[in-house]
Amino acid sequence: MEVIIKPDTHAAARLAARKIAAVIREKPGAVLGLATGRTPVETYERLVELRRTEGLDFSRVTTFNLDEYVGLDPKHPASYHAYMEGVLFSKINLDRGRNYLPDGLSTDVPKTCREYEDRIRAAGGIDIQILGIGSDGHLGFNEPSSSLASRTRIKTLTDRTRKDNAAFFGGEDKVPRHVITMGLGTIMDARVCILMAFGRKKATAVAQAVEGPVTAMVPASILQMHPAAIVLIDDEAASELKRADYYRWVYDHKPAWQKD
Ligand code: GLP
Repeated sequence: MEVIIKPDTHAAARLAARKIAAVIREKPGAVLGLATGRTPVETYERLVELRRTEGLDFSRVTTFNLDEYVGLDPKHPASYHAYMEGVLFSKINLDRGRNYLPDGLSTDVPKTCREYEDRIRAAGGIDIQILGIGSDGHLGFNEPSSSLASRTRIKTLTDRTRKDNAAFFGGEDKVPRHVITMGLGTIMDARVCILMAFGRKKATAVAQAVEGPVTAMVPASILQMHPAAIVLIDDEAASELKRADYYRWVYDHKPAWQKD
């Protein structure tokens, strides 16, 4: 794992956007794995800016989102379909036939999940996967106790996650209990993973994921087994890491050829 600690969220978002842009420039038909939540919003804003200022070309890019709520209309403002439209899709030059999110309104969820996996495979696999982390250590919507080898499937949210996301729905009782999420095995197949986390509230989950044991009780800890995982965090999210000074030193002294 490469742990990169930036002084604030702006610097982290700029770096994440630069890394995604580099993948697209190197491979114009890149496949992006996208996350929702508050954490990646500024990264998407920076990508929109790169489109505007540098003409970053998304026309051949394919996207797959991590997850979606079951039973929620894509037009519902708290749906991840609506989120992606609002923060990114409507603002860049995507080929609209190539943006995929799990279908929360599916009447055959197992089939929908199988097809999602097939589609990722047919696209050539995910080149770079953006990830946030839940305060309980979840990735996508893989809650604690998720199989570390899981594939796209239905999951049931914990009360804690429903509480964390209540603001988007105007109350915890309105947050759906079921979701479709890429599995941890699906996420681990991505060629590069960037996990972002900001703020004091994420510090414990980050410390457990980075420095704790690999365990299904902290799903994000599976990234310790990923050959190219980057953990991009701010000072506050890094505040419970025992080796924060070491990670800072490593980053500041990277050989020139390794610098981004
Ligand atoms: C939801 C999403 C996750 C996201 C998490 C954290 O549970 N399914 O993909 O990482 O929220 O959200 P936030 O970035 O708002 O803290």
